[in-house]
Amino acid sequence: MSESIKKILVTGVAGFLGSHLAEKLSALKHKVVGVDNMIGGYKDNIPKNIEFYNFDCCDLNKMNKIMKDVDVVYHCAATAHEGLSVFSPVEITKNNYMASVSVFTSAIASKVKRIIFCSSMARYGDQQTPFTEDMIPKPIDPYAISKVAAEGVLINLCELNNIEWVIAVPHNIIGPRQKYDDPFRNVVSIMLNRMMQQKAPLIYGDGKQKRCFSYIDDCISCLLPMLDQKNLHKQIINIGPDEEFVTINEVSEICSNITGSNLKPIHKKDRPREVKHATCSADKARKLLNYKTTVDLKKGITKTYEYIKKRGTKPFDYYINIEIENELTPEVWTKREL
Ligand SMILES: NC(=O)c1ccc[n+]([C@@H]2O[C@H](COP(=O)([O-])OP(=O)(O)OC[C@H]3O[C@@H](n4cnc5c(N)ncnc54)[C@H](O)[C@@H]3O)[C@@H](O)[C@H]2O)c1
Repeated sequence: MSESIKKILVTGVAGFLGSHLAEKLSALKHKVVGVDNMIGGYKDNIPKNIEFYNFDCCDLNKMNKIMKDVDVVYHCAATAHEGLSVFSPVEITKNNYMASVSVFTSAIASKVKRIIFCSSMARYGDQQTPFTEDMIPKPIDPYAISKVAAEGVLINLCELNNIEWVIAVPHNIIGPRQKYDDPFRNVVSIMLNRMMQQKAPLIYGDGKQKRCFSYIDDCISCLLPMLDQKNLHKQIINIGPDEEFVTINEVSEICSNITGSNLKPIHKKDRPREVKHATCSADKARKLLNYKTTVDLKKGITKTYEYIKKRGTKPFDYYINIEIENELTPEVWTKREL
């Protein structure tokens, strides 16, 4: 690691990705500052040995204060709720777009060396799979639109101010510390939390949607070199495997085998704007980040199950308001069926 990097800011540090990343950076002896407004995540995710601030990234004055002497920013804070974003666009856009613009503005004003932004595979929309980084983004919902817009602002301001940028594009990540009482996202954790409470898994549509999941450690080992690896400046890189594509029905079966549940899945209406097949190419990550899958899907789900078992199952927490409630809104959310 470069000697010149003394202080790193991680946003969304109470969340799944941000907490693992901050923990690892701190173990590598970096001084880490973290921020989170606690809309998501868990308090016990926050690594003990970091400097933590509880406020909203949209607050530019507060951002400016903690940005002092920061060399590199990893911007992970978001409400990563793709399906919900067509029903709660204000809350989702605020946390994904406005918070990003605030973090980037503060980082650029403070002349950091590099900003690493966690975007999302949602940026590709419903294009031909596997998604490659050279495709023109075609976002199809407010979550994806806010990510693509944030990418645009990042590139624009960094180019103008001569600041390095990297855009990480994770897929669906699984593992310990993921919020498993979130009714709006994280399919594996939702299924496990329900099955462990002797409740049948719920599946939107026919369950033939194809996805690819990455285990958290395999994602973190891609984010770490983004800190200072020279050839990553100005790169957009997919993070996650391009093997073990599974349907949601198959995910449900794996979760059943691991939890010992024999309850049949309940199929619900399709969610509007849900992409049928979403899988990325990992060629660029292999080439630039030496990407390898070290934890396969079954093992990753097992580790997630063990985490929930240790912490205990939880009732689902409907913590984001539904802003547009009509006949398209899933009843699972309006009637709080989970
Ligand atoms: N987990 C995945 O499968 C996945 C896939 C693709 C992309 N991503 C991206 O990776 C990043 C991290 O995702 P995650 O799964 O760790 O999510 P997460 O919900 O576990 O963590 C995000 C954290 O950000 C915080 N936050 C949200 N809005 C904030 C704001 N305005 N100010 C301060 N803090 C705020 C939340 O409280 C939460 O703790 C996100 O940008 C997400 O879009 C995640």
